[in-house]
Amino acid sequence: MTQRPIDDLCAVLKTEFEQDPRGKAVPALLAAYQAEHQDWRDWVLWSDACYTRNLVARCDAFELLLLAWSPEQKSPIHDHSDQNCWMAVMEGQLEEVHYTLPTSAENGASVLQQGRSKCFDEGGVAFIDDSIAYHLIQPAGGARAVSLHLYANPIDTCRIFCPDTGKAEDIPLGYHSVRGELVEAHSPEAIRERFSNS
Ligand code: SIN
Repeated sequence: MTQRPIDDLCAVLKTEFEQDPRGKAVPALLAAYQAEHQDWRDWVLWSDACYTRNLVARCDAFELLLLAWSPEQKSPIHDHSDQNCWMAVMEGQLEEVHYTLPTSAENGASVLQQGRSKCFDEGGVAFIDDSIAYHLIQPAGGARAVSLHLYANPIDTCRIFCPDTGKAEDIPLGYHSVRGELVEAHSPEAIRERFSNS
């Protein structure tokens, strides 16, 4: 079986994180992959119910996912569990809205402060971690969109925030598909097991 360009990208990302855990080269690597390849399309699944999380690869250092957004589907406001998150827009346009919570209110209910909102076009790459802000992501311009997300390290749970009260809730993060295959048991444990030898 021939190796897919997206697997070549994963191999390069592994080397990058071995050499530089901060991943300075990541934005350029994701942008170059977006500009040159289309094989990612085979592994994007859509749902009317919610945006989908489609796993491409997972190892100790990172996980790579394709997220498919129909118009009107948005993420909750969420944190990134102290990990780094890069998002490359593969198709369409995505809006990222930043939010912050006053530090004195981290564990209780408080009003979230909305920060900047920015639209990323096809080929654009965004970066966020919890020291920058929490965020929500949604497609812009009334069209569907696909994004490639790199989380270093993988994120199995995150906090989501009520936009009105700021109240936080821990939620588990799962996957709708793995390398193009729908997964029924998409719990983090099942996926870790599946990728334990990669
Ligand atoms: C997600 O991974 O489900 C939300 C998107 C993001 O964190 O950027």
